[in-house]
Amino acid sequence: MAITLGFDIYGTLIDPHGVTVKLSELIGDKAAEFSLTWRTKQLEYTFRRGLMRDYENFPVCTRNALDYADQVFKTNLSEDDKQALMDAYRVLPAYDDVPAALAKIRAAGFRMYGFSNGVAEAVSGLLEHAGISEYFDGVVSVDDVKTYKPNPDVYQHFVESTGSDKSNAWLVSSNPFDVQGAINYGMQAAWLHRFPDVVFDPWGIEPTIVIQDLVEIVERVK
Ligand code: 2OP
Repeated sequence: MAITLGFDIYGTLIDPHGVTVKLSELIGDKAAEFSLTWRTKQLEYTFRRGLMRDYENFPVCTRNALDYADQVFKTNLSEDDKQALMDAYRVLPAYDDVPAALAKIRAAGFRMYGFSNGVAEAVSGLLEHAGISEYFDGVVSVDDVKTYKPNPDVYQHFVESTGSDKSNAWLVSSNPFDVQGAINYGMQAAWLHRFPDVVFDPWGIEPTIVIQDLVEIVERVK
């Protein structure tokens, strides 16, 4: 059976900090720091909603985190500004290496899915906008199970909805919490060490493989 790959989206294929272009227009040199706080809080809100069993979808977590960052940075963004930033989130760019790497991975015969906390329609839109949707067999969203990574239920949902098996389903992610979630569930996982400063959480749950470049999947995922 062909190996099934689930590619994490935000932070792995698509750059959430692409929003700094729009942020710079609105708040100038605070943009990069604002973007980091926005992203960190967005993920924290998914974790907290998962623990509280009080699911609201990813756009709600994103918007709540935007409101939080606006208050922390005292940027007084208007409702129109916030809507423009949410709109920018729907057309975030892929990292530069992604299109060529996906083409090579696809050519090697893997089954490929986007697998995200994001809602399916937004994820499909991002892949389309980045010109990489042709490489995917589909998109699997946690929205179907109304909780978030790293809850084991979402990885089980991935395996079930792609007709794969734990033993031949791989997560590909640069987010350590996502990699640990997949391994904890029983999938295989490749940690893409996209940013040299990111440390893999030292819990004793290790990735199946660590890759520095997506194309390593072609040779190393078996
Ligand atoms: C994603 O699921 C974790 O944000 C990341 O796309």
